[in-house]
Amino acid sequence: MNYQGKGFGKELLTTVIGWCETKPLGEADTIYTSCDGKNEGAISLYQAAGFEITGEKIDGEIVLKRSLMGGHSDE
Ligand SMILES: CC(C)(COP(=O)(O)OP(=O)(O)OC[C@H]1O[C@@H](n2cnc3c(N)ncnc32)[C@H](O)[C@@H]1OP(=O)(O)O)[C@@H](O)C(=O)NCCC(=O)NCCS
Repeated sequence: MNYQGKGFGKELLTTVIGWCETKPLGEADTIYTSCDGKNEGAISLYQAAGFEITGEKIDGEIVLKRSLMGGHSDE
């Protein structure tokens, strides 16, 4: 069975962002992730959750960031 495209990724990402907003590792205002720059599904998932492409690359993957302050990152 294919479990993609059924909302699980969105729900998981929303839960992870909510956990990050509790500042479990101490004060923080931005969270980061990375993915293959050709992975349109992952990029759409992250952008829909408020992530922005930073323009940086790490280990060949594009970097995305999201503010934990409710809006866009101010970096
Ligand atoms: C990318 C991945 C994590 C998305 O998870 P998912 O459970 O399939 O996604 P969801 O059903 O929760 O969709 C959430 C949003 O993601 C985006 N999305 C998901 N699949 C997409 C696709 N094939 N093309 C474009 N956008 C897509 C959409 O914005 C979607 O929102 P919408 O349904 O309101 O339009 C999942 O498909 C996956 O595991 N892919 C293979 C491995 C991978 O690419 N991992 C990411 C590494 S960073």
